[in-house]
This record gives sequence, structure tokens and C-alpha cells, in this order.
Amino acid sequence: MKALILSGGKGTRLRPLTYTGAKQLVPVANKPILWYGIEALVKAKITDIGIIISPETGAEIQEKTGDGSNFGANITYILQDSPDGLAHAVKIAQPFLGNSPFVMYLGDNLIADDLSEYLDEFILKNLDALILLRKVSNPSAFGVATVNEKGEVLALVEKPQNPPSNLALVGIYFFSPEIHNSIEILKPSARGELEITDAIQNLLENKKLVSARELKNWWLDTGKKDDLLEANRIILDTNLTSENLGIIQGSTQIIGRVKIGKKTKIINSTIRGPVIIGDNCYLENCFIGPYSSIADNAKLTDTDLEHSVILESAQVLGIQQRIVDSVIGQRAKINLVLKRPKALSFMIGDDSHIELT
Ligand code: G1P
Repeated sequence: MKALILSGGKGTRLRPLTYTGAKQLVPVANKPILWYGIEALVKAKITDIGIIISPETGAEIQEKTGDGSNFGANITYILQDSPDGLAHAVKIAQPFLGNSPFVMYLGDNLIADDLSEYLDEFILKNLDALILLRKVSNPSAFGVATVNEKGEVLALVEKPQNPPSNLALVGIYFFSPEIHNSIEILKPSARGELEITDAIQNLLENKKLVSARELKNWWLDTGKKDDLLEANRIILDTNLTSENLGIIQGSTQIIGRVKIGKKTKIINSTIRGPVIIGDNCYLENCFIGPYSSIADNAKLTDTDLEHSVILESAQVLGIQQRIVDSVIGQRAKINLVLKRPKALSFMIGDDSHIELT
């Protein structure tokens, strides 16, 4: 059994964060989204992993993630020259996949369920495809399945305008080598891509064994800001254990589950967990409220923050008002110089969002 993680694409929905970096490296609770997928595969004892990368962000992914030894895996990087679709990614990965069955895992998807149970079913029933489904309120944004009362898959359609059900295709699929024959005969979709959804539909039409399971727990497709904040909240809620490797000074109070990294200095501040703060950060006169993640080398002074994600080396200085539901990009700087500013001065990149409420 092998795995193929798709970590290419341009990440347009997470702009401006993804102008400078890969969407799969955006952190959830200070860990790149992609790494959760690798860990889930290794936990299911799948260690021979191919990662599809794009020319724009591939080098960064490769440099941060390495050869897999940190995860107990063996990672092969496969370059997809242009974003021609999920099925196209499988096509170019054929030399790596050979005749092996495999799990295909979209690198920006996160699920709570263990893969092992689904993997066992896929192997035991000798399936050609096992797909995972989840009820959503906006099925038009996904691949959508029609399933009969016995749970058998009747049809699949990619991002339909009039969805036949509210069952979305989760970005984790189990395939036998039969999928390659199906991809061979695919034509590009309306958006000009080779769709994996169409390839599975081909399997169905050719009476191959396709089965579906509905996920038991949450699924997050972290492609957008609110999903990213929600993923951060859930991971901090379920996975965070307290640890303090930092330096705590003055009247600082640490309440609840809080993880603080090495060389981080916290002065006269209140931290109310669940909160994670990376290495080498500096916080002074701050209130950091629940469900916040602050990445390495960040600096925050006189700031009141809650349910937000601060990326590496960002600075939030002197903001007396509460910041909520926010994502602050790498090296971004928000600096309030006067307590009651007479004027605001900005240098803001394309697609940035600022709400003064
Ligand atoms: C892709 C698939 C879609 C699936 C989704 C899950 O969509 O094409 O069928 O429901 O991933 O994340 P995309 O992210 O390419 O829009």
C-alpha cells in the first residue's frame, strides 16, 4: 500500500497568505496542515509516500518536510508542471505508484477519524475505490455523491450547480490500480482539469467495485480563512497538552492548557488556553484568549487577541483593542503608534482584509 499526497496548486482561496507560500504549509496549531496528513498515513502504517508538488511552492515544501525520516516515512517528491487536475496528478505519479493500491490524500484536508478502519475495509472487500463522504451545507463547492438506501454509490458529480444530495466527497480516497485505466480515458472538465471525481464515475459505469463511507467525525478542507480558524480551534481543543519551555516574568498569568516554546519571553500578560505559542516569541502586556496560535519569532505588545492565528515573525504592537477571528501573515506588522491615532497609515498587499469595527 502506498500513499499519494497532493500538495500542488496555487491556493487562491487563502490569498494573500499563499502568495508567498504553499497553502499546505499554513500552520494549524503551529504545525503545517500537510504534516497532519503524513502523520495520519504513518499511523495507518503507510510509509511509502509520494508528494505531488508544484513549480511555485515545491521547493519550500521539500525543504520543510524533508525525506520523511522525521515522520518514520519514505517520501518521494513528484513535480506536477501545471495544475491540470487531481486525476492528472495521479497520472504523472504512475511510475511511483506502479501496480500498488494507494491512498490519495489532498494535502489541505484534515479529518479526525483514523484511516485504519477505512483501509481495512478497502483491503478486505477488495474494492477498486473507497470514497469518504460528509454532509455539508454547501455541496456545490465539492464533488457530490448520490447514494441509495443501502449506502451504494450510484453517481458522482464535480461541483454541481444543482447538487443531487448534500454528501460531499472528502479529499481522501482509496484506489486499486484500476483507477489508472479510468484516468486514461478521461477528458478535461469544464474547468479544464482531469477530475478524479469523473475517474471514479468511470469506475462506476464500468461496474467496478466502488464503495462509500460517511465520516464519523469532523472534516475540514482548510482552503479558506474561516475553515483555517475552525481547524485551529478543533486541534487546540482536542490535541493540545500544556508545556512551558519559555521565560515567564512579572505579573504574567497562565490559565488552562497553554503550550509555550523555547526562548519565548512573556511579560505582564495573561494567557488563557487553549493557546499555543511557538519558539522565540516576545509578548508584553498582552491578553491572549482561547483558540489562538502564535508561530515562532512573533512579537506582540499591548495586544488583546482571541481565536486568531499569528504566523511566523509577525508583529502586533500597541493595538489596545481586541483582535478576534484574524489570521496575520508571516512577517506582517501591525503597529499602533499613538493611543488615539489621528490618522491610519497602511502598506497593504493585494487581497488583504482589514475590518475596523
Ligand atoms: C477537490 C475535489 C472535490 C472534493 C474536494 C475536497 O476539490 O475535486 O471533489 O470534494 O477536493 O476537498 P478542489 O479542492 O480541487 O476544489
